[in-house]
Amino acid sequence: MTVRVVETIAELRAILRSRRALGSIGLVPTMGALHDGHGRLIETARRRDQTVVVSVFVNPTQFNQAQDYEHYPRTLDADIVVCEAAGVDVVFAPSAQEMYRDGFSTTIAVARVSEGLCGRFRPGHFAGVATVVMKLLQIVQPDRAYFGEKDAQQLAVIDRLVRDLNVPTEIVGVSTVREPDGLALSSRNRRLKQDERRAAPVLFEALQAAAAAVRAGETDPIAVTESAERLIAREPLVRLEYLEVVSVADMQPADRIAGPVRIALAAWLGDVRLIDNIFVDATET
Ligand code: PAF
Repeated sequence: MTVRVVETIAELRAILRSRRALGSIGLVPTMGALHDGHGRLIETARRRDQTVVVSVFVNPTQFNQAQDYEHYPRTLDADIVVCEAAGVDVVFAPSAQEMYRDGFSTTIAVARVSEGLCGRFRPGHFAGVATVVMKLLQIVQPDRAYFGEKDAQQLAVIDRLVRDLNVPTEIVGVSTVREPDGLALSSRNRRLKQDERRAAPVLFEALQAAAAAVRAGETDPIAVTESAERLIAREPLVRLEYLEVVSVADMQPADRIAGPVRIALAAWLGDVRLIDNIFVDATET
């Protein structure tokens, strides 16, 4: 079957009206530049839902630097080929004008879970994400929506959003896909220069070292992050923005590690900002 590519909300809704009778609808929201990480989201949706919709929309309201928005890769033709091969039913690729009509005035802010980690360094980012995701959930009305665990804080924000606003969509977190050297797949990786790409795996090495310290019984988050930070400091091309141990549900800093936590980081390599995280459960040592 050929994937349908639609640009308007009205056309998408008309297609979904007839598809809904066939069974469940899965939504994979993306900003395009699809890679194997998105491939895993699509595969997971394909296994569970009768209709799979992939949205491709580089959402301007979640970028807090105009330059980052402008440089974000846009590869719609290639993305459609990927979706076709993966058995996606519909690609929804709206324009910014279609999503944000003149006079658009609504913003959704999810407090607390949005405030630490990336929220501290990217003011307005999660409000942009929450608002566009809410719009996509309203437009598609999917039974399930799929998000990568690499963006763990985003996943936690969306989880909170659908609970708080009684959205009848199940939010499914899908595990991170990595390069053989451990670097988490990201659309931003293609902007790394050769030497930056060579340096980038230190991020996951540091997270693994931190997780190993927790498994070995370290309960002090500062001790855990300091040893990981020392590892990263040995790589001069990497500028660490944050490295923190947080609770899984609400992304608040852990005072003491006694159960499941996420260790999360953001770092700059040149002008590319990468994030990554690892889950570790201190009770399973
Ligand atoms: O993770 C992303 O690609 C984006 O933040 C999302 C969820 C598609 C919203 O624009």
